[in-house]
Order: sequence, then C-alpha cells, then structure tokens
Amino acid sequence: MQEKLDNLRERIIAAIAAAASVADLDAVETEQLGRKGELAVLLKSLGGLDPEVRKEMGMRANAVKGEITLALAARRRELQADAFAGLAKAERIDVTLPGQRPPEGHLHLTSQAIRDITEIFARLGFYRVRHPEVEWDWYAFEALNMPGDHPARDEWETFFMDAPSHGEKGRMVLTPHTSSGQVREMERREPPIRMVNISKCYRRQMDVSHTPVFHQFEGLLIDRDVNVTHLRGVLDFFARSYFGPERKTRLRPYHFRFTEPSFEVDISCGLCGGTGRLGDGGKCRLCKEGWLELGGAGMVHPNVLRFGGLDPEEWGGFAFGWGVERTMMMRSGIMLGDIRELYRNDLRFLRQF
Ligand code: FA5
Repeated sequence: MQEKLDNLRERIIAAIAAAASVADLDAVETEQLGRKGELAVLLKSLGGLDPEVRKEMGMRANAVKGEITLALAARRRELQADAFAGLAKAERIDVTLPGQRPPEGHLHLTSQAIRDITEIFARLGFYRVRHPEVEWDWYAFEALNMPGDHPARDEWETFFMDAPSHGEKGRMVLTPHTSSGQVREMERREPPIRMVNISKCYRRQMDVSHTPVFHQFEGLLIDRDVNVTHLRGVLDFFARSYFGPERKTRLRPYHFRFTEPSFEVDISCGLCGGTGRLGDGGKCRLCKEGWLELGGAGMVHPNVLRFGGLDPEEWGGFAFGWGVERTMMMRSGIMLGDIRELYRNDLRFLRQF
C-alpha cells in the first residue's frame, strides 16, 4: 500500500511539473484529484484494512493529498505568471506607430456637382427641392402647354409606364425633364417661389453625348414684376460662381412650349476666352465660335401659370433647366469622348476626380 501511494505521488507530482499551461494543469487536477481519480480510489480501498494500519495509511494518504494540492497551486502561479508575461509581449501596442488608414472614397462627380450647384443657388435664396421621377403626363407635358398630340413632345423621347392612367392626369411616365416640377411647386406653395429642382431624368437616348438616365437642375422663380433682366442676372451669377469670374452668358432665341420668350443659354468658352481662336491662331477645339451651349431658359408661359393656379396678370417668372453632367463637364474641362463613362462604375476613371 505504501509503495502504491509513493508511486502515485511521484506520478502526480511529475504530471504537475510537466503541465505546460493552466488548461493542462486543470486536466491533471480533475483526473487525479477528482472523485474518480486514482487517489480517491486508493483512499476508498483503505476501508478494508486493519484499523491501526488504516489510520496510519489514511494519515499518509492525506499528507500526500496536501502535498499535491500545494504543488498544484505553486505550478498554477508559475503558469499564470508565464502567460501574463507572454501577453505583455504578444499584445504590446506601439502607440507611436502611424495608424492604418481605412479605405477612403469620395463623392461621385455628379454628386459633387449637385452639391456645388445647390450651394450657389442657395446664396440667391433658391431652395433645393425634389419632385417625383415617376410622373403623370399632366405635369411632364400637358400642364407645360404641350397637349397630347403636340409634336414638341417628340423631343423628350419619353419612357411610358405600363400602369393604369389617371383620368385627367393621364399616363405615367419616367420624368424626361425637371420642368415637371414647375406646376407641382406652384401647387405646393404660394408665391414668391425660388426653387431649384435637381433630379434624375429619363429619356430613350443613348450615345456618346446622351445617357438614358441623367440629371437636370431646374430653376424656377415666380414673383411680381419679374423680367428677362432678372433671368440674365441669375444666369450670370451662376456662370461666374460655378465657372469663374471671367465667364459670360449669352441668350439665343429658341422655342419651348412652356416659356415665352424662350432661350438657349450659352457660356463663353473657357479654353479660348470666348474668341473661338487659340493662341496659335487655330480654331478652338472645344467650342463653336467662342460659346458653349448650356441649356434652356425662358419666361414662364401664362398658360403654365394658369395651370399652376396663378393669375398671369399678377404673377410672372422665369425658369431654366440644364443637364448636370454636361454643365459639370464644361467646368472641369473633362473632355469625355463618351458621357457614358460617368456611369460605368470604373474606379480607375472615377478615382481621378
Ligand atoms: C429641357 O429639358 C427643358 N425642360 C429645359 C428648360 C427648362 C427650358 C426651363 C426652358 C425652361 P432640353 O431637352 O434641351 O430642355 O434639355 C436640357 C439639357 O439637359 C440639355 O442641354 C442637356 O444638357 C441635358 N440633357 C438632355 N438630354 C440628355 C441626355 N440624354 N443625357 C445627358 N444630358 C441630357
């Protein structure tokens, strides 16, 4: 019995010394000192011994148990100290090292332009609005003085929705221009109105200078005693703020059904300074004779005011609507061979701006 006990003691002490981690040590403890461990079994077997021997062996077995408990505690302290020392090394953070930059993106060119345009018009008191992209024919055409069979509608190459039509508002379309926000805004609030409506527009067009989805920004001002000089002033302010102080605008007579008179707005070319000629005497490669075309504008037609519930004798106004992408390309001087590049989601292209 004594020999058995010595043997067991030696094995357990060796196992404790060999434990390489706290987890190993826990395993040794459960295995050896648990209720089913060898020591427990040995203690149980003392019951069959002679009382004198049992007492003697019992004392020795308990002494061994005490020794093992102490050895376990000592080894546990050692292993824990090692683990903490290792931790300090493994998890040391050098707070003086430069941090790792998270990947950083930026707004798409079109979004940047929308932000700039909004900010410039805000300085003149124009507030930004959005009107529906899925629109009734009424707001997109009819209330803009373009009845159902009018040929002018052809220019807007419209997408029609396959959806039930609404009695007087007609069919549903994907709005082909931001002008559909004009009568909506007149219905929504009392004049004076100074809105800038910036939204997506849709047309059945796709080539190097057209995308089926593009953006327009539309200014609408309704007030008393408004005339063309106010329109000029606003356009010039925008041109100087967005393109640079030396740029000028020009109005050319044009025809839109919803403005009278109507104009096409040009801006003096930034490359040749509005002369149409470059330093070497050659023709400017960017513009037509010193001017670049920006978009449409005009004085709001009396019929449109009436459709918006306003009396043209009392109220007047002007409107203008331009393409965001084209305006932005003119400022940055990006001469894209194909406007569709903007929406191909090619990061190699987009990262440049
Ligand atoms: C209009 O859409 C009129 N609503 C503008 C207007 C507003 C006139 C208020 C008078 C008063 P237009 O169809 O010309 O006009 O389009 C205006 C601008 O939108 C164009 O000059 C161009 O810059 C841009 N644009 C038109 N279609 C596309 C397209 N498919 N892709 C990219 N830009 C386009």
